[in-house]
Amino acid sequence: MGQVRITETAIRDGHQSLLATRMRTEDMLPALERMDAIGYGSIECWGGATFDTAMRFLLEDPWERLREVKSRLKNTPTQMLLRGQNAVGYRHYADDVVLEFCERAVENGMDIFRIFDALNDTRNLETAFEGVKRAGGHVQGTLCYTTSPVHTVESFGTLADRLVEMGADSLCIKDMAGLLSPVMAERLVTRIKGDHPDVPLQLHCHDTSGYSEMAYLLAVRAGADAIDTAISPLAGGTSQPATETLVAALGEDEDNGTGIALDDLVETADYFGGVRKKYWKHESNLLGVDAGVLRHQVPGGMISNLVGQLRDQGQEAKLGEVLEENARVRADLGYPPLVTPSSQIVGSQAVLNVLTGKRYGVVTKETRNLAQGLYGATAEPIEKAVLDLVLGDVPQIDHRPADDLEPELESAKEEIGDLAETPEDVLSYVMFPQPAKKFLEWRRAGGGPERELVAAVVGAMAIKDRAQATARGVPAAPSENGAAPGAAWRQFGRMRQMR
Ligand code: CO
Repeated sequence: MGQVRITETAIRDGHQSLLATRMRTEDMLPALERMDAIGYGSIECWGGATFDTAMRFLLEDPWERLREVKSRLKNTPTQMLLRGQNAVGYRHYADDVVLEFCERAVENGMDIFRIFDALNDTRNLETAFEGVKRAGGHVQGTLCYTTSPVHTVESFGTLADRLVEMGADSLCIKDMAGLLSPVMAERLVTRIKGDHPDVPLQLHCHDTSGYSEMAYLLAVRAGADAIDTAISPLAGGTSQPATETLVAALGEDEDNGTGIALDDLVETADYFGGVRKKYWKHESNLLGVDAGVLRHQVPGGMISNLVGQLRDQGQEAKLGEVLEENARVRADLGYPPLVTPSSQIVGSQAVLNVLTGKRYGVVTKETRNLAQGLYGATAEPIEKAVLDLVLGDVPQIDHRPADDLEPELESAKEEIGDLAETPEDVLSYVMFPQPAKKFLEWRRAGGGPERELVAAVVGAMAIKDRAQATARGVPAAPSENGAAPGAAWRQFGRMRQMR
């Protein structure tokens, strides 16, 4: 089997998958010194949805989080998830933004960049690869795994070849939806390691379908070099499988195993067990195995979205029909993987097709953009008949979408003015104009202990109300007013210390 390195995902994908990305920096930092001594290959701590939610919901500076995390990791590399041309946001940004983002990320302490494009269009990875290389970071080229008649061992093998050609320092098979079967994992790893024996290959699986531990085992036996796991209190369900399980299964040996001692994980597990309780309000209700994924490849989160859309129209009974239409729309649109944002695009269009009784009689703007090529090229070209229905006379683009974007940084700098105190602030503003502006204004107005005290007291009252309401059997109203429970806990922690 040989050596296999573990990437711990608790403070990025773990809480993103299970706790709506709400973990606060203050709950991460106390664990890091201990985690740094465990012997992880890397610690995933940034990127994905964490950048947005830090500012939007937690009034935290994501850049400061990165610096604080990095300062506590003396031995273990930091790792992040970067959405190619979308950086850590939800649309394509101009090249100047992506290049500057990569440079500032390295400068602030990021080591390994897992770079992906939701459509696996490698043109959308070019600028991010260049930016990370230029800044001296590690480029991990990513294959987004999905299933369809055109997603084969051969097609993924060709994609891996291209990523290596583009200069990837390592590769990752990223299984966002938990669709990677153990046998397919073995076949993909065998193929890719056969072609690129010297390029480290990592697997990132979600436990949604219950496949992931088996997929990891067969992948490692076939030659995979690294796997992603989350410490047990933040593992399972839509998160990664548990670190402890894989360490126990693959062994503690440094040269022929994970190089991690099971006993060394106990303290970290206890710690995050306590942390998870604080975030009960954000618990996902998708725990355990989602067997639906095994039958129709549609993850539970997407089904609940579809049910919600149908319920609004009083048409819940049409779910079966919509699921079938969903598969047809995905095929029509060239088999995009069903992840954000393509799952919403395909799902909404399927609902419209069923409810209006006329396929593509009404077309959403997002469906049109996808068909037009504004997200990049799809795995299979879209058929002319579908294009005519969806686009009408609008021509498809056949170049890299970001080629049409003018530089954005200078005008953003002018817009935000002196509210932005650093180049990092400008980047936050370009990617998330409203939340960043709100955060920067809050900070300018002295956002800090006093203002947090107000939020803390309000938050504590909300928690008390909720507890009482729950005790009476009355559901408490959700509160999303920024009075995050984290702030309350922290403030009371501080007040105790002051006494
Ligand atoms: Co993930």
